[in-house]
Amino acid sequence: MKIKMTINDQSHTLDVHPMMRLLDILRENLTGSKEGCGEGECGACSVFMNGALVNSCLIPVLQCDEAEIFTIEGIKDTAAGKLIAGAFAEAHSAQCGFCTPGMVMAAVNLLRQNPNPSEAEIREGLSGNICRCTGYDMIVDGIQLAARRAKEEAVPW
Ligand code: FES
Ligand code: FES
Repeated sequence: MKIKMTINDQSHTLDVHPMMRLLDILRENLTGSKEGCGEGECGACSVFMNGALVNSCLIPVLQCDEAEIFTIEGIKDTAAGKLIAGAFAEAHSAQCGFCTPGMVMAAVNLLRQNPNPSEAEIREGLSGNICRCTGYDMIVDGIQLAARRAKEEAVPW
């Protein structure tokens, strides 16, 4: 099946099996999105699809025709991506780093909808993402720091 989609603002036409997972298509060239569970539970494979945060391990590519996909590679060089990477580094929000791309995508998704989240709202925003290392507190700290900086520096999410 021929699928046309945009990945990080670049147009692609792919000739693929319709049931291939979006995650596998992406990881042929872009390895930022990770596979943890492969079952929609851990959020490591999170990407934006037409502006909505999705688990790419659950998306058959047939659903992606004419879709606009943004991965962590598309986010990391934006002003918001750089700000959140700096805040995560400062707050020690990453340990092994396996969950971090998904955490960053979840954080951007949350901060786009709610630029001043409470701690409870941040924890709720991360509820689809599993981290095996940090105990979550340092990730919450990183997101709070990113939210503060974005406000001070007028960086849009
Ligand atoms: S790998 Fe997709 S949610 Fe875990
Ligand atoms: S930092 Fe290791 S899984 Fe989150």
